Amino acid sequence: MSGPQCIAIDGPAGSGKSTVGEKLARQLGYLYVDTGAMYRAVAWLALNNNVDIHDGAALGELAQHAEVVISHPFVADGRQYTVTVHGCDITWEIRNSRVTGAVSAVSAHPAVRRTLIAQQREMARQGRVVMVGRDIGAVVLPEAELKIYLTASLAERARRRHAELVARVGEGNSKVPSLSEIERDIERRDDIDHDNMRPAIDAVVIETDYLSVQQVLDAIAPYVEDTTV
Ligand code: DC
Repeated sequence: MSGPQCIAIDGPAGSGKSTVGEKLARQLGYLYVDTGAMYRAVAWLALNNNVDIHDGAALGELAQHAEVVISHPFVADGRQYTVTVHGCDITWEIRNSRVTGAVSAVSAHPAVRRTLIAQQREMARQGRVVMVGRDIGAVVLPEAELKIYLTASLAERARRRHAELVARVGEGNSKVPSLSEIERDIERRDDIDHDNMRPAIDAVVIETDYLSVQQVLDAIAPYVEDTTV
């Protein structure tokens, strides 16, 4: 019996999908693709090239010609992967507040989505992939053998983001926004992302508020075992 070729993990910001997706991919020896990083790279390019984040046609062009490469981490600084654009390492820059503030608007444009979705399907063509995002099970890979949708309350998602930032830059650092600022920001992003964020009808929905990362992985494990090709 072999496992599923494609595992789609979707969910809103802070639902734990990246942490769970990366660990699951590592366990299975599958390729891990965080599609949010692709949207973030296009947003970074727009901000750095003075492209209006409301100009869908210009952003579509930008996405089409962007040489975004997501590869093994190479640098041991806590990153899950390395993201380069035209050879320049932007792994941490795509996580900053400027990019986070712009990415929902950028990803809402159909021209951007068309290009990135085509690239995502190409990445999954080889199989043995865990792909993480908002619309992977419903739109990008409707044929994926296993679809997981992770949810959590807004308060819990904000708490996780805050803890993540504190772990990265240190408690008391002025760069860390307050919990309520993070909560407001996630709520704003949820609102814009809403149209492109939905569980596939055949997704396994897991509510993660009271689950650790390991417990979520344990909840997913039987579905991985049960999914035969
Ligand atoms: O998961 P994230 O916060 O890194 O995602 C960044 C943005 O990209 C988020 O605002 C929603 C968008 N996104 C999307 O629209 N579709 C995806 N498959 C992945 C991310």
